This record gives sequence, C-alpha cells and structure tokens, in this order.
Amino acid sequence: MRFGWKILGKWIVTAAWPYINSVLHLGTILHLLGADMMTRFLRLLGEDVVSVSGSDEHGTPIEVEARRKNIDPRKLTDEAHAYVTEILRRWGIELDNYSRTESPVHKKFVKEFMLGLEEKGYIFTQKMVLPYCERDKIFLPDRFIEGKCPRCGYPNARGDQCDSCGALLDPLDLISPRCAICGSKPVLRETTHWFFDLRALEDKVRRWLENHGELWDNVKNYSLRWIKEGLKPRSITRDNAWGIEAPFKGAEGKTIYVWFEALLGYLSASKEVLERSGRSFEEFWYDENTKTIYFIGKDNIPFHAVILPAMLMASDERYRLPSIISATEYLLYEGEKFSKSRRIGLWADEALYIINDPDYWRFALARIRPEERDTNFSWREFVKIVNSELNDDIGNYINRVLTFIEKHFDSTIPKPRELDNTDQEFIDRVWLHYSEYIDSMLKTKIKHASEQILEIARAGNQYLNKRAPWDEVRIDRERAGTTMYIAANTVALLALTLYPLTPNAARRIWRMLGYEEPLERSRYPSQKSFIIPPGRKIGKVEPLFKKLPQDFIERIEKIIAEAREKAQKERPEYLRF
Ligand code: MF3
Ligand code: ZN
Repeated sequence: MRFGWKILGKWIVTAAWPYINSVLHLGTILHLLGADMMTRFLRLLGEDVVSVSGSDEHGTPIEVEARRKNIDPRKLTDEAHAYVTEILRRWGIELDNYSRTESPVHKKFVKEFMLGLEEKGYIFTQKMVLPYCERDKIFLPDRFIEGKCPRCGYPNARGDQCDSCGALLDPLDLISPRCAICGSKPVLRETTHWFFDLRALEDKVRRWLENHGELWDNVKNYSLRWIKEGLKPRSITRDNAWGIEAPFKGAEGKTIYVWFEALLGYLSASKEVLERSGRSFEEFWYDENTKTIYFIGKDNIPFHAVILPAMLMASDERYRLPSIISATEYLLYEGEKFSKSRRIGLWADEALYIINDPDYWRFALARIRPEERDTNFSWREFVKIVNSELNDDIGNYINRVLTFIEKHFDSTIPKPRELDNTDQEFIDRVWLHYSEYIDSMLKTKIKHASEQILEIARAGNQYLNKRAPWDEVRIDRERAGTTMYIAANTVALLALTLYPLTPNAARRIWRMLGYEEPLERSRYPSQKSFIIPPGRKIGKVEPLFKKLPQDFIERIEKIIAEAREKAQKERPEYLRF
C-alpha cells in the first residue's frame, strides 16, 4: 500500500481575488474552482479547512470609470460584487467566505497590519515628483494619464502601457500627455509616499524560497530569478481617493496600493469567517500544522511567493508562510489569449447559458487545467471530454453496473464469494489509481488527479468486458454477484473521487447507490477496503450525463452569440462589453 494518511491538521485554502471590473472568464475562474475543489477534497479526507477569496475592488480602473460617470465607485463595485457572487454560486463554487476588499473587517485589518509594519521599522517615506492634474486636483496614477505612444505613435496609450504595440511605459515618456479624466495637461508636483523596506527581508525570503520543499518548480525558479537582482523597497501608498486610507501619520488623503492590501485579504477574510463561527484567526494562521494553499495564475507569482511572505515575516514570526502556491500557466481560447476588448474567450456567465450544468464545465476545466504548460481550450476538445470521457468512460460504466444490479439482483448489492486473480488484479489496479489520485490532489495537481478517475472507470469497463457478468449470471449466479459487488464498490469510489470536480453528479451517484446520508458525511477510505456493505438496496438508476449533439460544433458560433446576448442583458451595466 502506498499510503495510509493521517489527519494532517488545518488548512487555509485560497484563490486570487479577481478584479471586480469584469466578469470572470474561464481562465480566471480556474483559480476559484481550484480552491473549491481542494476544499471539497480535504473535507472528504477529514481535514479542518477554511477557504476564502473575494472581490478585489480598489484600484485605478474602477476609479477612472466612476469619475467619468460622476458616481461613487462603491456603487459600481456593489453591483459587480453581487453579480460575481451569484455567478460563483451557479458554478457550485462554495468557499467559506467570498469576501470583498471593501469589507470593514478587511479595512480594519489592513490598517492595523500596516501600522504594525511601521512600528517594526519596515516602513519609510520618500519624496517624489509625480504628474498632477490642476483641474481635477489629484495626482494622476499611471493609468490616469494618456498620450501618444513614444514607440508606435498610437494616440491613446496609457501611462503604464500602450494597448496598440504593447510597450511598457512610464507616464513621463508619453508624448503630449493628458489627464484621462478631463483631458488637460498634467503638471509635475512633489508628493510623499510610504515605502515597504523589502531590502531588509531579502535574505530571509531567499532562504525561505531555497529551502522550501513543496513549491512547484515554476514558482520557485521564477521567484528566485525575480529577486536575483536584489529586492527593492516598494511604495505602498497612492494618491488615489478610492481605496483603503493609509493609516500613517501625515498620509491623510492617501490610500494603500491595491496589491498590498488585497494580499492581506487572505488573512482578513479568514478572520471574518472564523470569528463568525466562534473560532479564532490565530488558531489557524499561527498553528505550525496549518498548511496554506494559494490558487493563482502565473502572472501573480512574485506577489504570492515574494511580497506576501515578506509582509508576513515582517509582521509576525508566527504567521504560516505559503505551503503550496498552485500557480497555473495560461489558459488559451482556441489558441489565442483571452481578451475582453477583442471579445476573444468565454466568460463564466455565458458558459452556463451554453450548458446549464456546472459539472460539465468543472470537469472540462479540471481536464485542461494548465498545470504544466499553457493549455488550450477548444470546442473540439470540450466535446471530446464531455462525450467520450464524462459520458462514455465514466457515465456508461456507472450505468452498466447499476442497471445490471437493478435488473438481475433485484436492486440489491450482492454478496461476494471468494475473489479470483482477475478480481484481485482489477482491485489492485483501481487502488493504484486511487492512491495516485489522493497523492496528486494533495499536491493540487488536479488535472493529473482527473486522469486517475478516468483510469478507474476505464479499468472498470475492461473488467466488466472480461468478466461478462451477463454470461456469468446464467451459469453461476454467485460468481456474477461477486463481479457486481466489486464493480459497485468502484462506483462508490468514483463518486468520492468525482465529488471535488463534479459535486452534483457525485451526489446523484451516491443516491443511486442507495445511500441516505449525504456524501459529504463520508470519508475517503485510507485502507484497501470495500465501501458498500452487501444487501443494501440501491436507488433509482438514471443516466448521469448527456452527450453533446452531433452538430454542436457546427452551430457553436450561433450558440455562443445567443449565450452572450443573454449574459449581456443580465450583467450590471458596468460589466457589459
Ligand atoms: N486581482 C488580482 C488579479 O486578478 C489578484 C489579486 S490576488 C490578491 O490579478 F491576493 F492580491 F488578492
Ligand atoms: Zn484632469
């Protein structure tokens, strides 16, 4: 036996907080899905889990939009947050707390955290000369400035980047710069900003990275490369009005830079939900046996593997540092980058208007999760996953087993006789894949885990073909009973292993197997053992999945257009595009 785990302790499972200025697309919902799947998995192992994420509400784009419309940014984010929360519910993403950076608990936490860093000597101030709009009376952050791109001449380049040629810019490089709100020419003015002294933490962070045994290679290598040239202090305040007020003396009117506060959302959101249920934040964040997992995209690696650990180290030695950073590569859509402006991609609300059962999407995204390299979503691949993997390999196997028991054993799980070599080989093979499933999930290698589920189902189909219970039942009924007993147990194992990926289908399988108590109450077996007792009456057998029709691909353009129109109508105006 390859494993026999013990209870590992407490887990904090998190997903990157999505910016609330757009609806999640398939590539961004991946992280929240990962956190949801991991939470469900750990709970079936019997672990103590708290899972959190939330809306990243602050930042320049929202402020610009609100200023242009002359409304309170909070009105925009209230609507957007409510909409996104609803979409997550429809996807079956049930984290313990999907919070928001406007939450009072978060704001208070951030202010206290920052003052703590200042008290410990990690914060210093520095004067800077920055562009200022005399008409609007504000300092203009990079994205508030537009002008002609010095590289390609595009007239509407933003202060930080040119959308046309992609050049990374400094606002001072722009030719004829103008204020993005009123169009007037900015002037340069002196201002003071507060800095987080990352230099002081460089050695500690480097040693932590180097000695970390669990970080994925992509995370470790990228981060070590990132700090190779040394860590520089980073400004943590901005002259924006929309954000969390900087709590430092003399910083009136300034706010904390979004990244530095959003990262603390992991802490504040777990505090919020733990205290709601009478537990303490310290009990999780300070416990040496707590593991913390972050589901993020690769573009967020430096923030999670360098900046966050540095902030935690600086603040309090007792904080648990990241255990696993599950940083995925990019998901592409039909070979291209997702792009809102070019309408390339598929958004989370649209997807459910195409197929109104999140399990299909959840399974497909687990199958193509970009754990090793950039991975493509294509409709052709999607059809293959749904029709031949979900429906044929998994659905049909479960159906074959259960209808046979319904028909030949009066819907009762038969009693096994002694097992022969063929039985034993099958059981060993299933157990091997099951062990691999558990091991992979513990490393957040969800795609690899999904392969093991398929292998169990495929082995099951082969076992049935080899045993041919339809013949056995005529010659030796008891022999057929043994076959079906073993097969029914693998169906139970499939329900348990599918649960994190396709919770609704897993619960249906569980009910078909005749269980009255909910699947959530059971646990993954840690010993090679049978799960179902003989003699149990199974429930009504129904097909689990449906195939996508033959002409699905031919009609896909039209199907997407209709779904997009429906989604567009439901979105708050701010999220339409
Ligand atoms: N909003 C950021 C993004 O979408 C992620 C923030 S992660 C957090 O890239 F930890 F800072 F919240
Ligand atoms: Zn202006």
